Amino acid sequence: MSDSRPVLVADSGIGGLSVAREIRKARPDLAMVYVADDAAFPYGNWREGELTDHVVDLVAGLAREHDPQAVVIACNTASTLVLPGLRARLQVPVVGTVPAVKPAAERTASGLISILATPGTVKRDYTFELIHQFAPEVAVTLVGATRLAALAEDKLGQRPVDPDLLAAEIAPCFKEKNGRRTDKIVLGCTHYPFLIEEMRQAAPWEVEWIDPAPAIARRLAAVIAPAGEGAARGRGDLYLRTSGSVAEGLPFIFDAPAPDGGSV
Ligand code: DGL
Repeated sequence: MSDSRPVLVADSGIGGLSVAREIRKARPDLAMVYVADDAAFPYGNWREGELTDHVVDLVAGLAREHDPQAVVIACNTASTLVLPGLRARLQVPVVGTVPAVKPAAERTASGLISILATPGTVKRDYTFELIHQFAPEVAVTLVGATRLAALAEDKLGQRPVDPDLLAAEIAPCFKEKNGRRTDKIVLGCTHYPFLIEEMRQAAPWEVEWIDPAPAIARRLAAVIAPAGEGAARGRGDLYLRTSGSVAEGLPFIFDAPAPDGGSV
């Protein structure tokens, strides 16, 4: 039996739309309630305890209001903290987004990978644990980018993206050691796939950029009821911004290309 309730997808801003577009591809029948917590952006700069309480309360409140069949925390910075608290509060599956360390470690030929994420995510025990578990033999460079998520917001807000600032933010990802070079960069923030063309242009050499969004969409599909025959959407999409507005439908970016090699 398919379920006509929507899926609640949450991020600090537009970043989670990179996950939402993969959900749409995997399950076009699902309605989504997308929350951009722009009043609290950027999550990357928040203190851990405060961010945890804030996101758990926000998402639990929205879940009461919108009765979703599942919740997707489409944000690495929040997912590294809030999943246990949310799972304790909600009766529906909660799917998180965490840096794709495992596929990067499995696919690297040079043994040098980088995790490009917010300053919050690169400091988390959760991230250290992923590295310890999945990349013990790999040289991992953690890069906490302070302005990249805001540059992605600029791009989708149709404001110019400063190329020098972007190049400076990604430069520490590119390492050379004993004739070997970084060959995989994990996009550890859901905002970054929207800057993939700019990052490719600014990169000193070619790398594979790894986006976990397709894997998150598959995970969601695995934990909810399958699409019923001729499944009709129970409700339409909603786009909520915590700074104020509510819109029917989701923004245009579903047509923007997803990064190659992102099929984790
Ligand atoms: N999109 C969020 C993530 O995946 C972070 C952006 C922010 O700092 O708010 O980590």
